[in-house]
Amino acid sequence: MELPFAEPFKIKMVENLFRSTREQREKWIEEASFNLFNLKSEQVFIDLLTDSGTGAMSDKQWSAMMIGDESYAGASSYYKLKEAIKDLTGFSFFLPTHQGRAAENVIFSVLVKEGDIVPGNSHFDTTKGHIEFRKAKAVDCTIDIAMDASEWHPFKGNVDILKLETVLKNNPSGKISCIIITVTNNTAGGQPVSMENLREVGRLAKKYNVKFIIDGARFAENAYFIKLREPGYADKDIREIVREMFSYTDGMTMSSKKDAIVNMGGFIGLKDEDLFIKASTYNIIYEGFITYGGMSGRDMNALAQGLNEGTDLLYLESRINQVAWLGEKIKEYGIPVIEPFGGHAIFVDAKKILPHIPKEEFPAQTLAIELYIESGVRGIEIGALMADRDPVSRENRYSSLEMLRLAIPRRVYTNNHMDYVAAALKMVFERREKIERGVRIIWEAPILRHFTVRLERL
Ligand code: F0G
Repeated sequence: MELPFAEPFKIKMVENLFRSTREQREKWIEEASFNLFNLKSEQVFIDLLTDSGTGAMSDKQWSAMMIGDESYAGASSYYKLKEAIKDLTGFSFFLPTHQGRAAENVIFSVLVKEGDIVPGNSHFDTTKGHIEFRKAKAVDCTIDIAMDASEWHPFKGNVDILKLETVLKNNPSGKISCIIITVTNNTAGGQPVSMENLREVGRLAKKYNVKFIIDGARFAENAYFIKLREPGYADKDIREIVREMFSYTDGMTMSSKKDAIVNMGGFIGLKDEDLFIKASTYNIIYEGFITYGGMSGRDMNALAQGLNEGTDLLYLESRINQVAWLGEKIKEYGIPVIEPFGGHAIFVDAKKILPHIPKEEFPAQTLAIELYIESGVRGIEIGALMADRDPVSRENRYSSLEMLRLAIPRRVYTNNHMDYVAAALKMVFERREKIERGVRIIWEAPILRHFTVRLERL
């Protein structure tokens, strides 16, 4: 018999959760205009809205915070973080930012201009938002199989190299801002990108003389999947794999709130000094001086430590296994989920569960509302609401995937919590035919509408 996996940490501090009644939740979700972002956190029992900034920091991270250096310029915390990033990724230049989208804002201010094209693998919504805000176009070149929820592929986050090369061939290099590859591919189901794919993208970027940037929010989970699934990597250290992933690129944007297990923070890592100098000006305008860029010294200290902990093999094993634990339970109940399971979340196939609800009535959002009412569990819609409208035609964009994402915060919940979530979903699944109608938009913002949208039940 082999010993099973177990978390390589124990719990030092707990936070009590409040269990509400169904009647309370019915009232609260209506007051929240059926938008789960509008709920107060006390109204939620298990919060799987996001894995972003919701992780539990370690004793070592908290103690690193106590010795943060809050100097405006040249803080030792900045140099500590710079060393940690260089050591892990190989990038000699880095700029701190307050979170991931701020890193996108700064680097896109240099790279993206009106009329440009930014190819990649299902850009995350803020990434796409920053591109479209600049009147440029994000072109999704993800492999087709990623859109087939039940088809197994070890690296469903991959870019289709032929599709990418066609975009690069058909446009002058001056029109391509950069290639953005998101690891893991959040929008396509938290799916990893293979090393071979990254290597190929790097080769094309050089051939067509365009920059290659990784959106690295979940780079460590991606590296773990490479170790697990890609021939030739089983015996490699996670940090070695991470270093190779970034070696094919010109830089990275990072939301540290994910794989670096901090509650706030981000950064840009770059190879090239020229790009760093150009980006520095925007960092100063938007974020702060280049040695703090929107982060306090204590937060930079916690981040440097978090980068070490987030790339620990035993931690990653327990993390990925907890996500799979939830996935297996849900699957056992016969509920359709995206397979293979993602790194940070389980994506439930709302289209298959509520096939009688038309896409215009947002089936994934409807499922998210029902799960909340049933149990106090908060997930998030990754479907037509999030896909937003086409910036030119203003028509709704209906992606072929219509999903409820259950994102698991790092080091926060136990597997009993996961069992509760699976059971709650089963209860909704069993009464799915009684859910006859979806929701309708009564107000929406012109961009990134899902955060603030107001809905009514039909
Ligand atoms: N890139 C990816 C792949 C992301 O998942 C996110 C955030 C960002 C960039 C932006 O980073 O939030 O620090 O500004 N994703 C969160 C989520 C919000 O729930 O998936 P940020």
